[in-house]
Amino acid sequence: MSATRALLTLACLVAPALGATYAQTDSYQGSDFLSGFTHEAIADPTHGRVNYVDQATAVAQNLTYASGDTLILRADDTTVLSASDPGRSSVRLQSNNVYSNHVTVWNIRHMPQGCGTWPAVWEYGQDWPNQGEIDILEGVNDHATDQATLHTTSGCTVGGTRTMTGTSVGDNCDVNATGNSGCGVTSNDASSYGPAFNAAGGGFYAMERSDAGVKVWFWSRNSGAIPSDVLGGATSVDTDNWGTPFADFPSASCDMASHFGPHNIVINLTFCGDWAGAVFAADGCPGDCTTYVDENPSAFTNAYFDVAWLKVYQ
Ligand SMILES: *[C@@H]1O[C@H](CO)[C@@H](O)[C@H](O)[C@H]1NC(C)=O
Ligand SMILES: *[C@@H]1O[C@H](CO)[C@@H](O)[C@H](O)[C@H]1NC(C)=O
Repeated sequence: MSATRALLTLACLVAPALGATYAQTDSYQGSDFLSGFTHEAIADPTHGRVNYVDQATAVAQNLTYASGDTLILRADDTTVLSASDPGRSSVRLQSNNVYSNHVTVWNIRHMPQGCGTWPAVWEYGQDWPNQGEIDILEGVNDHATDQATLHTTSGCTVGGTRTMTGTSVGDNCDVNATGNSGCGVTSNDASSYGPAFNAAGGGFYAMERSDAGVKVWFWSRNSGAIPSDVLGGATSVDTDNWGTPFADFPSASCDMASHFGPHNIVINLTFCGDWAGAVFAADGCPGDCTTYVDENPSAFTNAYFDVAWLKVYQ
């Protein structure tokens, strides 16, 4: 083999690692979420009207149901609460594995909807906020569209050229400078959140975290533009083929290595609290959020996630 040929061959072999190709390292479907994630029965740090239960309780009460290609995570929709109760029973699942640079692809059929709900699919480092937080799917009170957000320590702002279809709602990711709002981007896709997301049968969320920054994509279930590797949960994915993300957080003014550590993946559903409670009336919801959550269990019949699968690539 000539030296030139050898170099070309070598270039071809190493090219995927330098490009945007990632190999699948974890796949979660149905009961994989019971073994690969931990139900955290903890107090909500954002002061929600919630009672997170452990896995045994969640399964016994069918708040968590895992079978085949289905993971249902829901809130108690039968119990009327009194003021002395800790909150509406719900679940918070956290991955046992941690991930640094990686890609996640979520195939979600249904997400929690309704006044008072604050669902989230997100990631964060245990040394928060020093290791950062990436919110992928989040909103409150049936807000029209999804908001993807970074939360960091100081010195991380959104700079450089952003290539995205969404709308920025803040350029400083520092939790202390923004009252923990961070730097968010709202999707302009009406099907990205709540009732409209559910009416379409949900869709796919994908997030890429690399030294170049963070990108988040959404494709509704019936979109003609879903990349084949996303649709099929392929064993490798190439984010270069995914088109323009709705949220782009380039690393130009945010050094990734010093603001983001190893992340656990979390999926949770809380109620009221710092965000949903604060804008409850402004969002057109009736009365006081805590009272509403306590007294109207049947309002939470559609407050559930139905996840087909989650794939992680590194
Ligand atoms: C649930 O998710 C939201 C969104 O990131 C987060 O702010 C909140 O603290 C979470 N609650 C718990 C207890 O995990
Ligand atoms: C638990 O929830 C699943 C999914 O919604 C449902 O199919 C099943 O019938 C429920 N089981 C019981 C015992 O209610």
